[in-house]
Amino acid sequence: MMPGLRSDQWYAGDGRDPYIHRAWMRRGLPNHAFDGRPHIAIANTASDLTPCNMHLDEVAASVKQGIWEAGGVPLNLPVVSLGETQVRPTAMLWRNMAAMAAEEMFRANPIDGVVLLGGCDKTIPALLMAAASVDLPAVVIPGGPMLTGTFRGVPMGCGTSTYALAEEVRAGAMDRAEFLRSESAMIRSKGHCNTMGTASTMGLLAEVLGTTLPGVAGTPAPDSRLLEASHETGRLAVELVHADRRPSVILSRGSFLNAIVALAAIGGSTNAVVHLLAIAGRLGVELTLDDFDRTGSGVPLLVDLLPAGRFLMDDLYRAGGLLAVLREVRDLLDPTALTVTGRPLVDYLDDAQVWDREVIRVRDEPLQPEAGIAVLRGNLAPLGAVIKPAAATPELLRHRGRAVVFESVEDLHARIDDPDLDVDADCVLVLRGCGPRGYPGMPEVSNMPLPTKLLEQGVRDMVRVCDGRMSGTAFGTVVLHVAPEAAAGGALALVRDGDMIELDVPARRLVLEVPDDELAAREPSPAAVAAYAAPTRGWERLYIDHVQQADTGVDLDFLVGSTGSAVGRESH
Ligand code: FES
Repeated sequence: MMPGLRSDQWYAGDGRDPYIHRAWMRRGLPNHAFDGRPHIAIANTASDLTPCNMHLDEVAASVKQGIWEAGGVPLNLPVVSLGETQVRPTAMLWRNMAAMAAEEMFRANPIDGVVLLGGCDKTIPALLMAAASVDLPAVVIPGGPMLTGTFRGVPMGCGTSTYALAEEVRAGAMDRAEFLRSESAMIRSKGHCNTMGTASTMGLLAEVLGTTLPGVAGTPAPDSRLLEASHETGRLAVELVHADRRPSVILSRGSFLNAIVALAAIGGSTNAVVHLLAIAGRLGVELTLDDFDRTGSGVPLLVDLLPAGRFLMDDLYRAGGLLAVLREVRDLLDPTALTVTGRPLVDYLDDAQVWDREVIRVRDEPLQPEAGIAVLRGNLAPLGAVIKPAAATPELLRHRGRAVVFESVEDLHARIDDPDLDVDADCVLVLRGCGPRGYPGMPEVSNMPLPTKLLEQGVRDMVRVCDGRMSGTAFGTVVLHVAPEAAAGGALALVRDGDMIELDVPARRLVLEVPDDELAAREPSPAAVAAYAAPTRGWERLYIDHVQQADTGVDLDFLVGSTGSAVGRESH
């Protein structure tokens, strides 16, 4: 056998142990499968309960063909899958579990490299975290967005249109039967959500990070070109093993800074902040919350997609795709950041063209001149909090208001429409108990609904502050990812109704205007403490005991870093 392959440690030799390893794999595998060829796992998140990833078995079949053709041996490896719309209480609770399980299986099995098939929100981040910690040659195939569905002749954006139609029902402008008829029109095809939500964002950022074949991200799931690229990716996976091109070589600080530039230019989800920080943490790449502000806050928004704009992912692909967007901000990209092909990302921008300037704007005519994320600090968020100023009301970016506090999502829903709730348009809505530990799992609830009585007065936005996350499809003057969260001893647990809160985004400040000595004398909200003490066993227990705060990516403390792929012992 050719020396040097990791799988040789299992298969090479004529002793009892290699005999066993080979014999149990001979269920159709030919003799030459063990003659020194790279064995490539296809980490497959296909699941009937992850509807956005249901088509990945078809993708895997094309990858297999490419791997065989290039002289490798493909091996399907089903891994933990997370259906964002299906799992309760929130898919983010298991991102780290999915990452940990995938990491352990990559390390435990006789493989030399891995192809990562993801799509729905948490699946690509989890797979990249796993691949980074094992550091075997790895390449991603984003499953791609669905085609655009229409209802009453109008395009439907996943999530965003659902909320809009539900509001029409509330306003009496649509009856419930019509509303339910729209349900079958929303999801037109295989693929993940077609808005610029987290799945679209992370698929595109996987390419900016250098972990996909350049040009593949954003290919609609039913498009034949996805299977063509999957075949090609299978071939590339074999090449990666021969070249020993690992995630630690591809994923540099420059790659992450490029991803931050792209995140702003595409108007991507704020969830990318915690995912990018977590992936970087697995590799020991220096990346902080402040890098998002420093590198991204001045980058213009160039993509006119829902929820910030008008179009959908299918339109972005038609208009030239990610590479055409990146070409517009080429001067902001690190030219040395590599891709899995061994060439820098910027090498792939020369041929990129914009075919529809309504969908992809030129640099001089952006949708917004500054689209990145601002990082706030102050006594209410000493470790940081984030806000997307481009999604906020400009007049509210500097605001002082009286706090109206909700202890939990349930408390919010129970009281937000109470006619007796003491709230006006200048108030600051505070929601706690939604952080990594407090919920647990950090759900997407920070964009709290406004009180109906204020909506009826014409109020459309208010300052909101929360230790949770926000859906990529959401909008408003929302301060999220407050760290430390209430359940981890953050000052958010000390806020009382009537306290004054100052938000000053230009000065990057978030301040609770209560004297230090008075704050020190306050007891934290009992509800926040109770949430922390809730689970007694299982994954939730482990998660709560070890999860870190939003400012470093919400990974478990003992999963940060990389232990590589070595396993020192035989199978026993
Ligand atoms: Fe899977 Fe939106 S629910 S991507």
